[in-house]
Amino acid sequence: MHIRPFRIGDESDLFAVFHSSIHGLAARDYSADQINAWAPDNLDQDVWRERMQGISPFVVEHDAQIVGYADIQPDGYIDHFFVSAKFARMGVGRMLMQHLHVVAAERSIATLCSDVSRTAQPFFERFGFLVVEQRAPIIRGVVVPNLLMHKTLVSDTTVEGIATSCACVSSALRAARSGAPSLPR
Ligand SMILES: CC(C)(COP(=O)(O)OP(=O)(O)OC[C@H]1O[C@@H](n2cnc3c(N)ncnc32)[C@H](O)[C@@H]1OP(=O)(O)O)[C@@H](O)C(=O)NCCC(=O)NCCS
Repeated sequence: MHIRPFRIGDESDLFAVFHSSIHGLAARDYSADQINAWAPDNLDQDVWRERMQGISPFVVEHDAQIVGYADIQPDGYIDHFFVSAKFARMGVGRMLMQHLHVVAAERSIATLCSDVSRTAQPFFERFGFLVVEQRAPIIRGVVVPNLLMHKTLVSDTTVEGIATSCACVSSALRAARSGAPSLPR
């Protein structure tokens, strides 16, 4: 298993991971309507391609197959974090999360944050993320609840200080106010 940057041409394999992860793993915490709104079988692949090129994630390969991917944006926001259902609980998520921490250190990013699914909450907690807020984004007309979680990488003093110094929390809130869905990722 190894990790590498996104390459043009990965997009359809990333969609397969995204779809497998949501239908095969997140389905235990969300209803069928929520799952189908979040990861529809017929998601517009032009939009998807553009999205993946925009976030440019790191991908984990096993035997030349992409089994997981995750991104980190310049403000520390993790937009997508998905592991293929067949490869769950085999250390793929750990490899991605550790890599994001290395990249964050290299880029002097002070805080990581993400809109995290109920399914992924224990995993993010395992890596030291805290819940900032429960949210209820609407995706294709269906409410798909998630949690805004963050992790401060450089020391800060107070809870208030952490919350206000988290640039990606601000951007997530801006997105929420403008009505932009944080999911699908
Ligand atoms: C959450 C997710 C990314 C975890 O990936 P993974 O490859 O299965 O995780 P790993 O095998 O690397 O596990 C790393 C650690 O997290 C723990 N962990 C992983 N999933 C967990 C869960 N659901 N509950 C509790 N602990 C969990 C593992 O036990 C392991 O702990 P350890 O180091 O003490 O052994 C994956 O399950 C997933 O893609 N879920 C569905 C999609 C989703 O909701 N994505 C996130 C959108 S924000």
